[in-house]
Amino acid sequence: MKINVDIPHHPYDIVIERGALKTVGAWAAGIWQPQKLVLITDSNVSALYGAQVAENLRDAGFEVVLFEFPAGEASKVLATAEKAWDFCAEVGLTRSDGIVGLGGGVTGDLAGFVASTYMRGIHFLQIATSLTAQVDSSVGGKTGVNSKLAKNMIGTFTQPDGVLIDPDILETLGKRELIEGMGEVVKCGLIGDVTLWEKLSEMPGDSILSNADFLIEHAVEVKRKVVVEDEHDNGKRLYLNFGHTIGHAVEATAGYGKVMHGEAVAIGMVQISKIAEGRGLMPAGISDQIREMCIKFGLPVDYEPWDVDVLYTALTHDKKARGSQIKTVLVPEIGTARIHQVPLDEMREWLVK
Ligand SMILES: NC(=O)c1ccc[n+]([C@@H]2O[C@H](COP(=O)([O-])OP(=O)(O)OC[C@H]3O[C@@H](n4cnc5c(N)ncnc54)[C@H](O)[C@@H]3O)[C@@H](O)[C@H]2O)c1
Ligand SMILES: [Zn+2]
Repeated sequence: MKINVDIPHHPYDIVIERGALKTVGAWAAGIWQPQKLVLITDSNVSALYGAQVAENLRDAGFEVVLFEFPAGEASKVLATAEKAWDFCAEVGLTRSDGIVGLGGGVTGDLAGFVASTYMRGIHFLQIATSLTAQVDSSVGGKTGVNSKLAKNMIGTFTQPDGVLIDPDILETLGKRELIEGMGEVVKCGLIGDVTLWEKLSEMPGDSILSNADFLIEHAVEVKRKVVVEDEHDNGKRLYLNFGHTIGHAVEATAGYGKVMHGEAVAIGMVQISKIAEGRGLMPAGISDQIREMCIKFGLPVDYEPWDVDVLYTALTHDKKARGSQIKTVLVPEIGTARIHQVPLDEMREWLVK
């Protein structure tokens, strides 16, 4: 299936298809003329798919050179981007050539950033290989790297010319990474898609792979809708932050990497719904529903040690905390979202279990 991301100045298609990786050359040739490509990929994905993708692209008439970096979040830094810029220059990549990112969210963010800055910006394609990339990071045009002080501190809003998602590729993804990606899928059902929520409710927790195409299509559609209305993240995109205010605080206090992002989102969704439900801001019973859903897929719903003061300090440092109010996202009924302003000092109460 094809989802058109109809951003006015740069519309593009997201192709979601089982087995699509085998015809990646034809896909790229349908978007670009034959040209030189730098294929940016991490060490894990390169070992599994790098050669196959490069060969397939060559068969379709592209000249392909591979830039590989060590897998992991630690590589999503300016130093790796600099190596990639130099590499592009050394192999003679020009403004009319392209970059293809092949990998998870780290690769997509990095490749997009390199493409959007090399020679003031050249076009790029993204092949998303992790569940997080397939349901979240490959949609929306945010590219970037981390700085010493904060994640995603340096970056651009740049849309790719196309995104390819092959759900079959998830078979080689680590189990924890697969489950982590479900945190965002559950969130998408809650904020924007009752059909997705119903599917999640009825499917067995261990059938993520066999249901992956349905889950990805629906999650991408939820994100597409919000992104198209708010490309530069000034308004409705905030809905995507359901569970994230508290989730970010958990992530930061645990030390990045200990609790993975999608896991922290699950914990954040459960906590915020519990308080909101108690105050009559979300329907009765919803926090238990969310908790059970997360548990079914193997997502954590709790985190130890839960120190309200430490979490509060982390939360108020969050970049979304502007002024004396924090904009939180609530789910007034499953499939919808709304913003709820919480005064900073009241936020402490929202952290009490
Ligand atoms: N741009 C956005 O809007 C956006 C949204 C969400 C997350 N992100 C970013 O995405 C990153 C997290 O993404 P991620 O979880 O995909 O991290 P990742 O890219 O590091 O991938 C996770 C791990 O899985 C491996 N992997 C990926 N696909 C595989 C496959 N098919 N088979 C085997 N191994 C595979 C990778 O090598 C890596 O070790 C973070 O940096 C985050 O900031 C960006
Ligand atoms: Zn997220």
